[in-house]
Order: sequence, then structure tokens, then C-alpha cells
Amino acid sequence: MAKQKPIRHALPEFVRAAKHFRGDLAREKWRAAQAFSALLIGVLAQLLEPWPLKFIIDSVLTPGGKADPLPSVFQGSPVVALAATGAAFVAIIGVRATASYIESVGFAMIGSRIVARLRSRLFCHLQALPLAFHNKSRQGDLLARVVGDIRLVRDVAVTAVLPLVASVLVLVGMAGVMLWVNWRLGLVALAVLPLFLLSTVKTGRKIHHAARKQRLHEGAIAASAAEAISSMQVVKALSLESRFEASFAVNENRSASDEVKTRKLAARLSRSTDLLIALSTAIVLVYGGRLVLAETMTIGGLVVFLTYMKRGLRPLKDFAKYAARLSKASAAAQRIFELLEMQPDSDGEDGREEAPRFKGAIEFRGVDYSYSPDAPVLQQFSATIAPGEFVAIVGESGVGKSTLLSLLLRFYEPESGEVLIDSAPVDLWQRASVRSQMSIVLQDTVLFAGTIAENIAYGAADVSQDMVEAAAKLARAHEFTSKFPDGYETIVGERGVTLSHGQRQRIAIARAAVRDAPILLLDEPATALDQQNKALTRAGLASLAAGRTTLLVTHDLKDAVDADRVLLIKDGRVAEEGTHDELVQKGGSYADLHRAQRGHAADRSTQSAGVAAP
Ligand SMILES: Nc1ncnc2c1ncn2[C@@H]1O[C@H](COP(=O)(O)OP(=O)(O)OP(=O)(O)O)[C@@H](O)[C@H]1O
Ligand SMILES: [Mg+2]
Repeated sequence: MAKQKPIRHALPEFVRAAKHFRGDLAREKWRAAQAFSALLIGVLAQLLEPWPLKFIIDSVLTPGGKADPLPSVFQGSPVVALAATGAAFVAIIGVRATASYIESVGFAMIGSRIVARLRSRLFCHLQALPLAFHNKSRQGDLLARVVGDIRLVRDVAVTAVLPLVASVLVLVGMAGVMLWVNWRLGLVALAVLPLFLLSTVKTGRKIHHAARKQRLHEGAIAASAAEAISSMQVVKALSLESRFEASFAVNENRSASDEVKTRKLAARLSRSTDLLIALSTAIVLVYGGRLVLAETMTIGGLVVFLTYMKRGLRPLKDFAKYAARLSKASAAAQRIFELLEMQPDSDGEDGREEAPRFKGAIEFRGVDYSYSPDAPVLQQFSATIAPGEFVAIVGESGVGKSTLLSLLLRFYEPESGEVLIDSAPVDLWQRASVRSQMSIVLQDTVLFAGTIAENIAYGAADVSQDMVEAAAKLARAHEFTSKFPDGYETIVGERGVTLSHGQRQRIAIARAAVRDAPILLLDEPATALDQQNKALTRAGLASLAAGRTTLLVTHDLKDAVDADRVLLIKDGRVAEEGTHDELVQKGGSYADLHRAQRGHAADRSTQSAGVAAP
């Protein structure tokens, strides 16, 4: 029973792996054929290895050559026979060593190339996975998969799997020769195999389980490290160091204890394998010794047998030695396959056409959307925006303003209803061709490691230096950029740390400008900026918005004053709609909001006036 279960489990695993590597293996078939031929030659040489010894013992050293008489080619001279056998021995070993060199280099190359391609594939796939997936995943864990898991698979593929394949072939060959030489003794020698299989399969499962848990904990370690490192400022400010340390330590301890467990299990497997091998060797010695005494077998024959046993059972020992690593790698491979088998964003893109250049009419028609079933965000949301219109979207925090923009960008798909651009549903077109016609500026801008010019040019094809400068001028980013000694060639850090928030926002505006998209999506681009930066950013945005359909999500009603229309969102739909003045007149929620903000501003000005007054 225990034997069958894992095989049932192991087979789908194997099929799964074969499915993922089939294409790669096919590309390497010539190199693989070469390495495999070398492997077979090596195995043959290994099978031949003990025979010169048998010849020496049985035909040269045994008095009178009782067992096997000396062949006539040696003209009755034992010295010639010895010399010839020695030469044969060296030749056999020479062939084996050469074959083993070709084989290991070949397999190492195949393994590394296949895994390198797997890594690129995994990374591409990761980028294609939908945002809904990335929102739920921990970056560090994904990083651990792309870097750590892949490395584990590669190391094991090269150092353990291929040698194991070779030694299994040796085992099969030697078992055949052993049965051919003396089938009874052969059967006795091989009787341990089922026992070995039983113990390996049982322990192997446990090792695999522990290894998988360990990789999970290692993923969690990477994830919390990545979280802490990427937001070190917040961690320090909130004195969260000890919290992160604690969670780090917990996972580290778990991982360590799983590691110990796998090692323990592997050591146990190794011990029982050694004992089983010793047992069968002892039985062969006793039984074979009796056959020699009864003169039904020669001494040389027994020596061949014992050598074969030592060699032939090596895969069992190797397997026990590699069991922990193999299990870990297979756990790692599973984690990689899991990712690869997820549906990417581009699925269902087949047959879709590229979107034509949009005029910029946007319509939401009865859109329902929720991130989780029990908390609906948008409910029967409808709104129509004309080409070139500037629409401000306001509403309480968490009401679904950003979600609206995400639906337009097709980060998520509406549950029901439709999002249309120029009267055609957005999902008619390829995602990339829709996104390339939208420029976005978010509340917080990420700058990639590179120069300012590169950061502005990102996201648009064929951008000349002049276009970068024009975009920067429009975004009011030219002035501060030209003050840097390196100007546009100034390197900004990985997360743009050397630039202030306001400067980064203006780079983002330049980035949006360089794309020259008909639709502009702004999600609180001027929030958390000081008055001067706000003014500069607003000026940049106003230039950018000219002639484009613009959706501006904002909390600051000052931004809404200039809008052609304001949409106030409440309970998942548009609650109030009109120009700023109309809505203030109307005396609804917008008017309340306006009063509250004005009151706040007035408070602040009387306060500062109070301080300033003598
Ligand atoms: N990735 C996500 N996964 C799950 N729930 C989300 C996700 N993003 C937003 N939500 C939830 O959906 C609701 C709407 O979020 P959204 O970000 O659209 O609000 P918002 O109007 O932009 O708020 P704010 O003004 O604070 O930016 C919120 O209740 C939020 O908790
Ligand atoms: Mg938002």
C-alpha cells in the first residue's frame, strides 16, 4: 500500500515537469544525445571493469588454471597475460573516465541552459500575471521563487538528478550481468531492492513534506525582509524594527527546524540503506562462498559479483545522499510550476485587434465591481465623459475612485456592465494598445534606477532628447533638472530618493506628456505637496490636460474648480454631477465638503494672521 501511494503522486509530478521542460529538452536534443551516448559507453565500461580481475584470479593466479585455462594467445606465459590484463584494465578505465567527462560537462551545460531559460520564462510570466494576483502576493516570496527556487532546481538538476540517472542505468546493467553469471546468487543479491524501495519511498515522502514547508518559510523570510528593506523609513519611524525582527526570527526558526528534520530523515534513510547493503553483501558472501567451496563457482566469479554489488548498489546510496536535496528541489520546482500554471493577463488576447487611436470618449455603463464578494465597491455605476472633457472625481476615501481608473486601464474586469471608449467596449482591444493611449500620474511616483531623461522617456517608444526636454518644460520639471550639474543625465536612485516628492511628481507629469496619449488619468497627483510645489504641479497638469480627456481624482476641491464637470461618488455610483459652482449652489454633499474645506482653510489663515499680528 505504502508503496503505491507515492508512485501515484510522483507520476503526475513527473508529467508536470515533463510538460514544462519538453520544449527546452527538444532544443537540446543533440547535446543530450551526445551526453547520453557517453553515459551509455561509461556504463558499459563500468560493467567491464571487474572482468580483468576475474581473468587474473581464475586463469593466471589459480594454480593450474583449474577454473578457466589460459587462452592460447598468451602462449602459456602468465607474465604476458598479466601485462595484457593490466593494459586492458587501464584502457577500460580510460574509456570510462573520458566518457564520464563528456557526460558530466554535457549534462551540466544542458541543465544550466534549461534552467536559465526557465528563469526568463518565469520572469516574463510573472510580469504577465494580472494585477489581482500581484496585489495578493508577497513580493519577497515571488523574489524567492525567481531567484532561490530556480537556483535550487539548477543545482540539483546538474549535481544530483543526472548522476542518479547514470547510476540507475549502472544498476540495471549490473543486475542483468549478475543474473546472467549466476541467477541464484543474483536473486539473493537483488533481494534487498524491494526493501530499499519501501523504506526510501516512505522516508522520501516525509522529507518532501518537510522540504516543502521549509521552502514556504524561506519564502516568508524573504517576503518580510523585502517588506522591511523596501520601507525602511517607515519601519524606523514607527520603531517597528523589533516587530520585523521577531517575525523574521519566527520564520527563521521554523525553517531551521524543518531543515534539521529533513537532514535527520535523510540521515536515517542513509543509515538504513547502508544496513540493507551490508546485509545483502553478507548474504552473498556466505552463499557465494559456499558455491565456491562446492566448486560450482570460481573465486573470480565471486569477486566479480561482489564488485558489482558494491558498484551496482551505489545508486541506492546516492539516492539516500541526495534525497534531501532532491526533495527540496522538487518542492522548489513545484513552487515554480504553480506560478507558471497561473493564467496570465494576456490570456484571451488572441484574435483581439490593436485599438485604433482613441478620440477619448469614455463611458461606464452599469458597472459592478468588488474586490471581495461581501464588500461591493461600484454598483451600477454609470457615467459618460466627452472627448477632451476635464472631469474631476471626488468622494470619500474608499468609495472606489481609484478603482474606476483601474477598470479603465483594464487592471481588473467589471463583474457586470461595460466600460467603453469611443463607444466600443475596452475589452475588444488588446490591453497593451489600450494602456498605451492612457497617461497616468499617481499620488506617489516610482522612479526607476537611471537618468532623469530615461525616467521621462520610459513608457513611450522612440523619444528624442528634444521631446524629453519639451515634456519636462511642459511639466515644469525643466528648471530644477537643468540646475543639476549633470542635467538630464542625473542618475536618480532606485526609488528616486534623491528627488523631492514634488520634483518626482513633475517627472511623472513629463513622463505622461511624452506619451502623448488622448486620455489622461490623474489620481491625486498633487496631494501631500507644499503650496509652491502644488502650484507648479497644477500648472504642469493644466498644460498636460489641454486637448486630452482628463479624469482627475482629487480630495482637494480647489482642483475641481476648473473642471468642466465634477462627479461626486457615493455608495458605488455618481451621486452629484455638475460644475463646481452648480454643485455648491445645489447644497448637497459637495457643498458640505466645500464648506468644510473652506472653513478649514479660513481657520488656518486666521491662526496665521493671529501669529503674525503684533
Ligand atoms: N487591491 C485591492 N484589494 C482589495 N480591496 C481593495 C483593493 N483596492 C481597493 N480596495 C477596496 O476597495 C474600496 C475602494 O478602493 P479605492 O482605492 O478605489 O478607493 P478610493 O476612492 O480611491 O479611496 P482613496 O480616496 O482613499 O484613494 C476600498 O474599500 C478598498 O478597501
Ligand atoms: Mg484612491
